[in-house]
Amino acid sequence: MIKNVKQLKSQLKGEITIPPDKSISHRAVMLASLAKGKSIVKNFSTGADCKSTLEVFKMLGTDIKFQSANTLEINGGNLTPSFTPCCCGNSGTTMRLTAGILAGQKFDSVLTGDESLSKRPMSRIIKPLTLMGALIDSVDGHAPLTIRGKSLAGIDYISPLASAQVKSCVLLAGLNASGVTTFEEPSLSRDHTERMLKYMGADINVEGKRVSVRKSELAPKIIEVAGDISSAAFFIAAGLIVKGSDFVIKNVGINPARTGILDVVKRMGGEVEILNYRVVSGEDCADLRVRYTENLKGCSIGGEDIPRLIDELPVIAVLASQAEGETFVSDASDLRNKESDRITCLVKELRKIGVDIDETPDGFIVRGKTLLTGGEELETHHDHRLAMSFYVAGLVCREEILINGFEWTNISFPEFEELFAKLSL
Ligand code: S3P
Repeated sequence: MIKNVKQLKSQLKGEITIPPDKSISHRAVMLASLAKGKSIVKNFSTGADCKSTLEVFKMLGTDIKFQSANTLEINGGNLTPSFTPCCCGNSGTTMRLTAGILAGQKFDSVLTGDESLSKRPMSRIIKPLTLMGALIDSVDGHAPLTIRGKSLAGIDYISPLASAQVKSCVLLAGLNASGVTTFEEPSLSRDHTERMLKYMGADINVEGKRVSVRKSELAPKIIEVAGDISSAAFFIAAGLIVKGSDFVIKNVGINPARTGILDVVKRMGGEVEILNYRVVSGEDCADLRVRYTENLKGCSIGGEDIPRLIDELPVIAVLASQAEGETFVSDASDLRNKESDRITCLVKELRKIGVDIDETPDGFIVRGKTLLTGGEELETHHDHRLAMSFYVAGLVCREEILINGFEWTNISFPEFEELFAKLSL
């Protein structure tokens, strides 16, 4: 599907509620499927990735019913084999976390994915799981994964990567392993798994960048999913660069391991205010007021920032094009292993509309402030976050742009355009 985006002549005003967090939604289905008894998941994501998790756990025997459009009733505690391969679609989180759960079951399973997921590296999870005693066949480190259920033993794993998917995979395997399973990462990645495990009564201990679990039974719970800051990021960026904008984004998860975008906005001098701080099912939450900021300035982003904003880097590149001076992103080479090579594809497409951006091996450099030309067709490369970042760029381009493959937004954020329309009335 090709989407035309024109320069927004009006301002973004009013109030929206951001849809549920994808990472938390995946974990809610998985942990509720492990907990014996009835859990309720409120405010579950409508994105295709979370539907993949839901379908996989149904195939693995979990009884999951919708009580309403966003509320699930999950009767868990009894995983059974699926006699057909479980398809994880486009979702790396589904495949990597589910592999951790399946490695220690008493049955065998096969996990498959779409074309893009089948190209993404799985050796990062196969390696620690194998050290725990798992038996996994792959196609040269890629899906499909054939997982032979085995008894697992805990390990002390020092991860070379700060990846919440790898960390969560190992911790979920550790829930069903003998002894202690410890995972240490170079910098802190999102800790939704740790928080939810604690919330559901697991034997878990977190000490900075080291986290340990022991074999645990989880207690069923009511889990309310906070709004997704990665979805809010597109509105934050748009609000800062579309002249005269001033609006509130309600119910945004502000877990400190996810708020790198807010730190970058602060460094750039952007006006985002945190209102109504609260805690929902063990997760920090707030409303955000975003205001157009005329004098944004470029900044450096790297090191421990990266896992805290990894998914926001494409839209940060758009924001940086409207900030005075240089924005330098480093230490982000894992962006090349996302739904697309998010360094090469981003740079190639944004250059078409006049963004002054260069690729580096582990990030990119943007020089602003640039009047974006537009008048071009941009490719999404089957990547939902590129599609939405280009839409935001289109709002400030002089001429209309076309975005080819805009339907990929449905992977994480089917409500994306509807919410933009609500703010631009
Ligand atoms: C996610 C972790 C991140 C992120 C992805 C969701 C998660 O991936 O990019 O969109 O839910 O754990 P990595 O762990 O590979 O960095």
